[in-house]
Amino acid sequence: MPRKPRGAKRSHGSGSTSRNVPTVLITGAGRGLGYEYAQQYAADGWKVIGTVRDPKAKAALTKLGAEAHIADVTDRKAIAKLAAGLKGVPIDVLICNAGIYGPRGMSLGKLDYAAWEEVLRVNLLGPAAVAEALLGNVAASEKKIIVMMSSRLGSIAEMRGGDYFYASSKAALNAVGRAFSAALAGRGITVVSLSPGWVRTDMGGKRAPLAPETSVEGLRKVIAGLTPGKSGSFMSYDGSAIPW
Ligand SMILES: NC(=O)c1ccc[n+]([C@@H]2O[C@H](COP(=O)([O-])OP(=O)(O)OC[C@H]3O[C@@H](n4cnc5c(N)ncnc54)[C@H](OP(=O)(O)O)[C@@H]3O)[C@@H](O)[C@H]2O)c1
Repeated sequence: MPRKPRGAKRSHGSGSTSRNVPTVLITGAGRGLGYEYAQQYAADGWKVIGTVRDPKAKAALTKLGAEAHIADVTDRKAIAKLAAGLKGVPIDVLICNAGIYGPRGMSLGKLDYAAWEEVLRVNLLGPAAVAEALLGNVAASEKKIIVMMSSRLGSIAEMRGGDYFYASSKAALNAVGRAFSAALAGRGITVVSLSPGWVRTDMGGKRAPLAPETSVEGLRKVIAGLTPGKSGSFMSYDGSAIPW
């Protein structure tokens, strides 16, 4: 059931100066952190646009009052269709959230390269293609923010080995986010990589210490406080910087 999140206000976030309702687009919004973002932004009065892969997952989003679109982020035609359907719609905050972990417990000598390619297609090329396709929408908005949902496991400085597929995909995503931020600074677009922490979702598992509500409340606070000066940074859900 949709619920009002703890501490949610109908303020449209502390960064808003517009009287217009701001718009957020979230990829992979049918479950996990994507759905939590959709719930919290909807409860805060934002216009929410979510993408899902399975038509059955649309219903949960529409119940929130959100607009749901079907798009697999690895399907360039589906992304072009999404962009065509949203032509002229300003997107204040674009959250490239859809992601996969890939097979776990891969050891050197037995790496599954087909699986690695799939992780890169979803976690790296997917967000890049979505951001590229929707750049005009973000540029036409007031806030002009692109969030790459990354992971602390993508920090090269902190890399501990073992999570080769996932870690390399998020490290590369960070590089893309950083490069996009430099390329888009002239258009006033802010691009950041954010880590949600270790969260209890299908990906994070039951042992994760953070509830999705807590993580997304923190992430939304970080997003609301973004300024162009913070573009190109890598931060945790609590606002602390993560070393590249
Ligand atoms: N949970 C954590 O502890 C954690 C930690 C660090 C970073 N993250 C990142 O946070 C983001 C969300 O993670 P989560 O924990 O919410 O994961 P999740 O519960 O496994 O949900 C993943 C979401 O991504 C979507 N997705 C997967 N492949 C897709 C594709 N090819 N095209 C479109 N959508 C696709 C899924 O849609 P379907 O329902 O159609 O499969 C689902 O909505 C990911 O980028 C993840 O890497 C999570």
